[in-house]
Amino acid sequence: MRTRIIGTGSCLPETVVTNDDLSKIMDTSDEWISSRTGIRERRLVKDETTASMSIEAARRALEDAKVSAQDIDLIIVGTITGDYVTPSTACEVQAAIGADKAVAFDVNAACSGFMFALHTADAYFKAGIYKTALVLGAETLSKIMDWNDRSTCVLFGDGAGAAVLRAEETGILAYDQGSDGAKGMVLACKNRLNNNPLVQNPKDLQYTYMDGQEVYKFAVTTVPASINKVLNEAGLSVEDIDYFALHQANIRIIQSVAKRLKVSEDKFPISLDHCGNISAGSVPILLDEINKKGMLKPGMKIVLSGFGAGLTWGSAVIEW
Ligand code: COA
Repeated sequence: MRTRIIGTGSCLPETVVTNDDLSKIMDTSDEWISSRTGIRERRLVKDETTASMSIEAARRALEDAKVSAQDIDLIIVGTITGDYVTPSTACEVQAAIGADKAVAFDVNAACSGFMFALHTADAYFKAGIYKTALVLGAETLSKIMDWNDRSTCVLFGDGAGAAVLRAEETGILAYDQGSDGAKGMVLACKNRLNNNPLVQNPKDLQYTYMDGQEVYKFAVTTVPASINKVLNEAGLSVEDIDYFALHQANIRIIQSVAKRLKVSEDKFPISLDHCGNISAGSVPILLDEINKKGMLKPGMKIVLSGFGAGLTWGSAVIEW
């Protein structure tokens, strides 16, 4: 038994914000952003929410998979920006799509959120507990950005991606995931402040802080190692892989990973140019884009890899 992705869907907010738009409200430029990151524009929410985008992405994935919401046993959403502390985004999705029989919960693994959700579903399948699942990565990162910090806010975007999974003969061939909590503070965001009468309320900002260079170093070493690990476990080499669908943080990270793996950049599809970094949303949105373009054929081998805050990382090699 393997866990197979049988349908994908995604949803981006309507409003496009280009680098030039940002340069009108802060001291930045299209040249600075695009040359260092490859990002040209991103979508930011106006009326959309993490749940509304997740629900739409889920509906599209179910339609693509030709699966009814009633058949879903499990819903997992990778997110760090749910609309509520509780209920979870997964429970909101469950209610909206009418997946009455499903168990629903969120996982917090930042940019690896979709990969961790995928692996969790895979473990349930292997244990024989569930057979059909909906996994998502969804974020409204714009609400946890400090819009006075040009070094972080220009990098991120909002959106949601979803995949329907089913226990079948083929699918995930190998998986690797890891965490390094000791380095957690290089990319961090505080939760709500404590308002209880015993706590002197600290004035920390509840926005994202990032040491960009440390994150960069982590990504360009950990991701190739993680990918090599799953390839070894699957008995495959980089030549056997049709596409490497990586978390869309920065074009330079992707170029560096391609170089370290000695693989042509052509095998690395890109969505960051028009999406920016959507954390847990990046991998499933990219997967949906290449699926809907007809780039994925049965039997193809694809590497998925997510990495980011925590620090966390997760890679999988799948047969489509
Ligand atoms: N526009 C214009 N100038 C900017 C800017 C912006 N949006 N953001 C920062 N700068 C300035 C800085 O103030 C600094 O100016 P100074 O030299 O006068 O002090 C200069 O640009 C260089 O800043 P620095 O932070 O050293 O840039 P960098 O070359 O390290 O590039 C990143 C910054 C964020 C692009 C790079 O570190 C990176 O890609 N890191 C990985 C981040 C990432 O992908 N995180 C998510 C992973 S999940």
